[in-house]
Amino acid sequence: MGQIISIHSFRGGTGKSNLTANIATLAALDGKRVGIVDTDIQSPGIHVLFGFDETNIEASLNDYLWGKIPIEKAAYPIHEIAGKDPDREFLKNTKMWLIPSSIRTGEIARILREGYDVGMLNDGFHSLIEKLDLDILFIDTHPGLNDETLLSIAISNALIIILRPDNQDFQGTAVTVDVARKLEVPKLRLVVNKALSQVYDIQKLGQSISETYNAKVSAVLPLSEDVAFNASKNIFAALHPDHPWTKAVKQVVLDIID
Ligand SMILES: Nc1ncnc2c1ncn2[C@@H]1O[C@H](COP(=O)(O)OP(=O)(O)O)[C@@H](O)[C@H]1O
Ligand SMILES: [Mg+2]
Repeated sequence: MGQIISIHSFRGGTGKSNLTANIATLAALDGKRVGIVDTDIQSPGIHVLFGFDETNIEASLNDYLWGKIPIEKAAYPIHEIAGKDPDREFLKNTKMWLIPSSIRTGEIARILREGYDVGMLNDGFHSLIEKLDLDILFIDTHPGLNDETLLSIAISNALIIILRPDNQDFQGTAVTVDVARKLEVPKLRLVVNKALSQVYDIQKLGQSISETYNAKVSAVLPLSEDVAFNASKNIFAALHPDHPWTKAVKQVVLDIID
């Protein structure tokens, strides 16, 4: 049975979409059949890392939530579409599907205005696992706690909560960890991103955060000008396999994927 892995953070800009796209790609390069759902309906973005834009996104998660299409109709084979791009040839031999959220202003406004039946997300996730025969379904989420993040946390086999070494993140993360415990997520992991390596002893930082939240820290990822320069243009870990950021991302993969 396929696993559901959600990537969440209490605040925005922590690196959820970049981490999700990178761990999903590393898992797919390792032979796993992988799906990625963008549940950040208010501010979708993970499609950008795979070179998708309004020219190649027709049907989306929104259409499924409005009852217009079965969810598989909004599943785009990344290996076929992005794999054609010379800059993303590494995706060609993978098996990956992206279910994007709509990037049309009117459709984002409509779903925020009208809401939707959150239970449909649960059905949709399980339908994707079955129809696409997925080993792993990754859920990229909107920051903070709302109905869809609570649902995705509740149904996940594993939850990764990302935080920066920032006092605003520290407080919010305590709230999310608490919720995840109450919802009894089988595997709860913290990932620290954007750690200043000149300031922190990375190992000590991971240890102290782990003690604070009484949860395992999968890895501490350095703040990196190279990752910032990539600017969500491509899958950094695939382009720079020996970079310190990639090495830390690989630790997350090892820890989270069976
Ligand atoms: N370790 C890092 N070092 C430098 N920049 C990073 C790092 N991780 C992510 N970023 C940058 O931070 C921004 C937010 O990342 P993103 O993945 O979109 O976060 P989220 O999905 O949580 O909002 C992007 O510009 C990304 O390139
Ligand atoms: Mg994001």
